[in-house]
Amino acid sequence: MAMLAIFIAVSVLYAGDVTGRCRNNVTHCWYKNLFILEPHVRACHDLCNCTDTTLDCSSNQGKLKFVPHVNESYINLNFSNNKISNISDEDFFCNVSRNVRAIDLYNNGLRFISKGVFDGLDNLTELLLGGSNYLEYKDICCHIPNLQHLSLGCLRFGLAPRTTTNLSLFQSAKSLRTLGLWRNKIYKLHSALLPSLRTLNLESNRLFEFPVSCSDRKNESFFPSLEVLWLDGNMISCIDDPVCLPNLTELHLRYNRFVQLDTDAFFTARFGKLQFLKLNQLDHEFCRIRPYFVNNSIVTNISFTNNDVDFSQHYVNETAFGGCTSVQHLSLSGNNFRDVTKGKFHALLQPMEHSLKALYLGRVRLKFITSNMFSRLSQLRVLHLYGNDLSSIPDGAFNSLYHLTTLTLDQNNIATIAKATFSVHLRMRLQYVTLDCNPFQCTCDILWFQQWMKANPRVFHDYHGKGYRCANIGNISIPSFPLNPQACLLGSDAVAFTIAVTCVLLFFLLLFTILFRFRWHMRLWLYQVFHNSKRGRRSWRYKYDVFVSYAEEDARWVLQELLPVTEGRWGLILCLHQRDFRPGKHIVDNIADCVSESERVVLVFSPHFARSEWCQFELKLCQSVVMERDDVMVLVALQETRSRDMSGAMLAVLRTTTYIEWEEGQDATQAFWGRLRLALEDPDVVATQNNVCSLYMCS
Ligand SMILES: *[C@@H]1O[C@H](CO)[C@@H](O)[C@H](O)[C@H]1NC(C)=O
Ligand SMILES: *[C@@H]1O[C@H](CO)[C@@H](O)[C@H](O)[C@H]1NC(C)=O
Ligand SMILES: *[C@@H]1O[C@H](CO)[C@@H](O)[C@H](O)[C@H]1NC(C)=O
Ligand SMILES: *[C@@H]1O[C@H](CO)[C@@H](O)[C@H](O)[C@H]1NC(C)=O
Ligand SMILES: *[C@@H]1O[C@H](CO)[C@@H](O)[C@H](O)[C@H]1NC(C)=O
Ligand SMILES: *[C@@H]1O[C@H](CO)[C@@H](O)[C@H](O)[C@H]1NC(C)=O
Ligand SMILES: *[C@@H]1O[C@H](CO)[C@@H](O)[C@H](O)[C@H]1NC(C)=O
Ligand SMILES: *[C@@H]1O[C@H](CO)[C@@H](O)[C@H](O)[C@H]1NC(C)=O
Ligand SMILES: *[C@@H]1O[C@H](CO)[C@@H](O)[C@H](O)[C@H]1NC(C)=O
Ligand SMILES: *[C@@H]1O[C@H](CO)[C@@H](O)[C@H](O)[C@H]1NC(C)=O
Ligand SMILES: *[C@@H]1O[C@H](CO)[C@@H](O)[C@H](O)[C@H]1NC(C)=O
Ligand SMILES: *[C@@H]1O[C@H](CO)[C@@H](O)[C@H](O)[C@H]1NC(C)=O
Repeated sequence: MAMLAIFIAVSVLYAGDVTGRCRNNVTHCWYKNLFILEPHVRACHDLCNCTDTTLDCSSNQGKLKFVPHVNESYINLNFSNNKISNISDEDFFCNVSRNVRAIDLYNNGLRFISKGVFDGLDNLTELLLGGSNYLEYKDICCHIPNLQHLSLGCLRFGLAPRTTTNLSLFQSAKSLRTLGLWRNKIYKLHSALLPSLRTLNLESNRLFEFPVSCSDRKNESFFPSLEVLWLDGNMISCIDDPVCLPNLTELHLRYNRFVQLDTDAFFTARFGKLQFLKLNQLDHEFCRIRPYFVNNSIVTNISFTNNDVDFSQHYVNETAFGGCTSVQHLSLSGNNFRDVTKGKFHALLQPMEHSLKALYLGRVRLKFITSNMFSRLSQLRVLHLYGNDLSSIPDGAFNSLYHLTTLTLDQNNIATIAKATFSVHLRMRLQYVTLDCNPFQCTCDILWFQQWMKANPRVFHDYHGKGYRCANIGNISIPSFPLNPQACLLGSDAVAFTIAVTCVLLFFLLLFTILFRFRWHMRLWLYQVFHNSKRGRRSWRYKYDVFVSYAEEDARWVLQELLPVTEGRWGLILCLHQRDFRPGKHIVDNIADCVSESERVVLVFSPHFARSEWCQFELKLCQSVVMERDDVMVLVALQETRSRDMSGAMLAVLRTTTYIEWEEGQDATQAFWGRLRLALEDPDVVATQNNVCSLYMCS
């Protein structure tokens, strides 16, 4: 008997299995196949479209009254946007394969679901019941054993302004991973342990508090597996209570009501695995952003856009992002950076200098950027500066960003961009650039840019669109602006060339003029440099300071020029044969005495000197005295003396000794006196000259 019962039960089960899941009449589901295959339309039924696994019967405005029979390939069913308002028939899904994975009943005006309707659909993991369905959570209740994704967003609860939701209702769905409860007017949420929940969507409700995540037993979490939490569009103003979300990686908090972001609000000890933090469009005015408000070394993405926060203000602490050492994407678009100082800007980004790869600064009212504003962000790949007030870009502002591939500068106020702004290497690195919607002035200056654009049309966003316009010439786009490279090249290069040549010529002219004007000063200077002079030595051993040997014809020069300076001004005592030779003594003795009683000898060379026998004698005598006495012999050349006029001794002395040349003219004479004075005072000069002189004498 028992055996028979079991046999019958098995047979029934088997029959049910074979004939689909319809209880009342097992055959009507099977005998007809409704498929009308029209490959071009890809329609499997006049009300449904078929793809590989999906039967899409959505948007039929109430024409779909039943679930057509489909074969086992179709495991995703879409009945959304119909008018299936009452699923009271437990056979409602009997035409459907047991393999069905997902059923979408969104927006049907559904009011009733019979409890057993999903029975036997063991593979059903996804159920969408949101939209204008008038269901209560408890009606839905989860008799679907393997349900993983339940979407209940936007349910109609009548006119009730707020609802309380007890998450324990979903505890029976043991495998629930995703729960969508958005736009349900939830204002109070009672948490319950949902051990497998990965994603919880509570967007657009009326929550005032961050969901309680720690159970009474302190640090035990209600949502130990939760990875993504959507809380956008609520009224949360702070996160006070302890947080137990050990696996949370994404936290969405856009459109909430934070007025203050406290130190450590999102810090590592609280959100140990958080990577994405969205804090955009916090529509309330901030009164304080405290230091280290994120302070999370795990977070990689921070989105803080459209908050209209004035970062220059005192209420934003310069270490607000302190501790965020792993941030790779930072989006600060839609705030105010107009008056932010360079120091504060660097301080704000300092924690993420070595990790930041993408920085969004679109529409932050920047008026200018400095050339090293971004240079510390060594890993930066993406930089957005669109929609600001930039009128120029400093040269090389982006050159040190060795990984930069994307740069947006559209919707600024840039009239010209210099070639120097973008180095050749930078241009090669960039893969995506926007510069459209700027008031470009189309002149030859823009030629290089036009060439860059034409060579890399893919790099430039909206290349063919209307973005790149010449502001000075109506309705012409930059790529089509007629610019003749030769003409431009000639224009700019010819001017540059002319200027360069003129400059060089002027320079040399000036140099020559200066050299000519100060030629004597320079000769004196050179002389001084090479004969490191030592002044002020005076010997007491000699009667005269200088013996002057000169021809009778040059006496005038000696008396009128040499004497007044050397004796008059310098206070030297000269020995002149006219004046100082003792009468009655033989002239040779006179000369010899005079030479030996003088410390120095000045020989006044001139054609007359060459012709004068006495002078030649004096020269020879001097040479011999010089040899003995290690003394000085100073040559002064009065006029150009041709070598054929000279004696051998004169030539030898002239060739080996620098002589001081007398020339008329104020500068020349000034230099002459300077050199002469040096020569008369400098014993080193003497030594070298002596050696040369004596060498000649010996040979
Ligand atoms: C099942 O359908 C068949 C016809 O296809 C009919 O003869 C039979 O009575 C139906 N059974 C029930 C229980 O409705
Ligand atoms: C089926 O697909 C066609 C073409 O894509 C489309 O025009 C039609 O609206 C779809 N029908 C349904 C019921 O989705
Ligand atoms: C099953 O499909 C057949 C034909 O496709 C249809 O007539 C019948 O009403 C369907 N059953 C249900 C319960 O929708
Ligand atoms: C289901 O029907 C489609 C269309 O007729 C066919 O391509 C597919 O092979 C069928 N799958 C099974 C499992 O019968
Ligand atoms: C069902 O179809 C609607 C409208 O065609 C579409 O918006 C929805 O995403 C589909 N559902 C699923 C689960 O694909
Ligand atoms: C749904 O249909 C069943 C039977 O067809 C009926 O008893 C029930 O009242 C209906 N419910 C609603 C909400 O229309
Ligand atoms: C459920 O799906 C798996 C594959 O995902 C398949 O192996 C299994 O047979 C399905 N179960 C039923 C009852 O169809
Ligand atoms: C939530 O539901 C559970 C089980 O139904 C119950 O024990 C608990 O008290 C409820 N919590 C609240 C705050 O209503
Ligand atoms: C809870 O925290 C205490 C210390 O505060 C720690 O000793 C204990 O291991 C924690 N328990 C769990 C389950 O994390
Ligand atoms: C947390 O996530 C990791 C992987 O991201 C996973 O291995 C681990 O099981 C998760 N922990 C819990 C409690 O779900
Ligand atoms: C930042 O967080 C660490 C722990 O992650 C903590 O030790 C440190 O005090 C915090 N810093 C500030 C300034 O709050
Ligand atoms: C920012 O915070 C630091 C550390 O708490 C503090 O020393 C500094 O004064 C703050 N700056 C401003 C402008 O409040």
